Amino acid sequence: MAAPLRVLVTGAAGQIGYSLVHQIAKGDVFGPDQSLIMVLLDIPPMQAVLEGVAMELDDCALPLLKEVIPCTNEAEAFKDIDAAWLVGAMPRKEGMERKDLLAANVKIFKSQGASLHNAKPTCKVIVVGNPANTNALICSKYAAPHIPARNISAMTRLDHNRALAQVALRTKTQSKDVKNVIIWGNHSATQYPDVRHAKIQIGGEEKAVEAVINDEAYLHGEFISVIQKRGAAIIGKRKLSSAMSAAKASCDHIRDWFRGTKPGEWVSMAVPSDGSYGIPEGVVYSFPVTIENKEWKVVQGLSIDDFSRGKMDATLKELQGERDEALAACQ
Ligand code: NAI
Repeated sequence: MAAPLRVLVTGAAGQIGYSLVHQIAKGDVFGPDQSLIMVLLDIPPMQAVLEGVAMELDDCALPLLKEVIPCTNEAEAFKDIDAAWLVGAMPRKEGMERKDLLAANVKIFKSQGASLHNAKPTCKVIVVGNPANTNALICSKYAAPHIPARNISAMTRLDHNRALAQVALRTKTQSKDVKNVIIWGNHSATQYPDVRHAKIQIGGEEKAVEAVINDEAYLHGEFISVIQKRGAAIIGKRKLSSAMSAAKASCDHIRDWFRGTKPGEWVSMAVPSDGSYGIPEGVVYSFPVTIENKEWKVVQGLSIDDFSRGKMDATLKELQGERDEALAACQ
């Protein structure tokens, strides 16, 4: 068996953490032959809860899990890690202004970016904590130079999976039959879920999702708003934000980063723009990407119509505003 990977989950005493650590530790991400050391970080007031989660993980008696380290010291937690799930973030509290929320998160992700100087140079990072794209931007701005910006990403895979699920429900197929949906832009209500290039396996044939659904009003209207508002709809029902599905999506994201995307398929991932599709360089924007040898590449050459361009620009504008506010809060 290969040498163990050292994996960090921040916010491990929270609700996503509770679903996530088990999925990682049982091999869903790095495969059945990869042993793991899991470092669970949370803030000092959560120490007892964190220890409880670590005890449960031990009690799962998982063959791949060599060691569980509950930890409340950030610098120690980042030491020699190969992968990091940055889940812990400041939640929005009642009456809290958006700019105060942003400032609290800037502080967390500035500090965690700096702590990455303890990580391996090959370390891959997914930021889950919201506002995820902007938190990833701040994290990479303060990351040690040995960690390239392209190693720090944000999660839009949950939105991607939600889009697969909505297409499957509409066409009475399964999510596994649908591929190549795209989430463009921010993980927020301005994101643009796009099925113009998506395909579906139906009746023994691969067909264009647009042709099978054949309802432009639905695809340009309800479909987009259901995905954009899915998080809020789940909070409305559960009185808690998505956790099981967020944990699963973050595992899909890192699994594909380490083990590659399937031939002919792409996934959505928020990464620092390389200028593709006219998105200014550096903005952490969700694109369709393929991954090989642990390197992502933005899928090139997809046609963009006026409808898509309008939506892509609107979510870019929001991201640029968030970035400017976050950078101002860094001063
Ligand atoms: P939660 O509130 O249950 O857990 C968050 C945990 O993070 C808490 O245990 C808290 O003590 C910890 N934490 C706070 N600051 C920390 C720091 N500096 N270092 C380490 N730990 C810290 O929240 P939940 O439901 O687990 O969600 C976590 C984040 O993920 C939230 O920001 C949420 O909005 C976001 N989220 C993102 C999604 C996405 O698709 N990108 C989807 C769902 C949630």
